[in-house]
Amino acid sequence: MSNDSLLPYYAKGTIVKGFGRGSKALGIPTANFPEDVVAQLPEGFNTGIYYGWAALEGEIYKMVMSIGWNPFYQNEKKSMEVHILHKFSNDLHGRELKIVITGFIRPETSFDSVEALIAAINNDIKIADQRLEDPKMNELKSTLLTDC
Ligand SMILES: Cc1cc2nc3c(=O)[nH]c(=O)nc-3n(C[C@H](O)[C@H](O)[C@H](O)COP(=O)(O)O)c2cc1C
Repeated sequence: MSNDSLLPYYAKGTIVKGFGRGSKALGIPTANFPEDVVAQLPEGFNTGIYYGWAALEGEIYKMVMSIGWNPFYQNEKKSMEVHILHKFSNDLHGRELKIVITGFIRPETSFDSVEALIAAINNDIKIADQRLEDPKMNELKSTLLTDC
């Protein structure tokens, strides 16, 4: 289920508009990567919910992300959507985002309601927040500004 041998995985790209539900319907804003970044994922890279670090304008933040087709919404396009564990007051579209994916949380699932999806994502955020405190995960933080 997890693809530990492919981690840590680095990616970078300009933040594009997603399907537009992140902030409005869910209250959980996501920064979406463009299609060419999604296409570069190695073939064996499983879809699912991951955590790691995100660099934006020289700052590094914790992040949690979804890679795949969002079964709850039955998207036809594979996406990479990053939720940064920080409150931004401005729009992030057009900014350059670098990430390092350091661990896997769970596969993508469909849910019976938007509320259940939101609860699952909030739980993912908690798990990411905790696991990134691990010294091994913290080591990868500084590699983000140089290795990408
Ligand atoms: C941490 C995290 C976990 C997610 N888990 C799921 C999931 O299990 N199933 C699903 O359909 N979508 C999942 N999503 C995707 C959300 O449905 C998606 O971010 C939302 O639809 C907003 O997309 P948009 O910005 O493209 O509108 C997850 C997103 C995040 C950030």
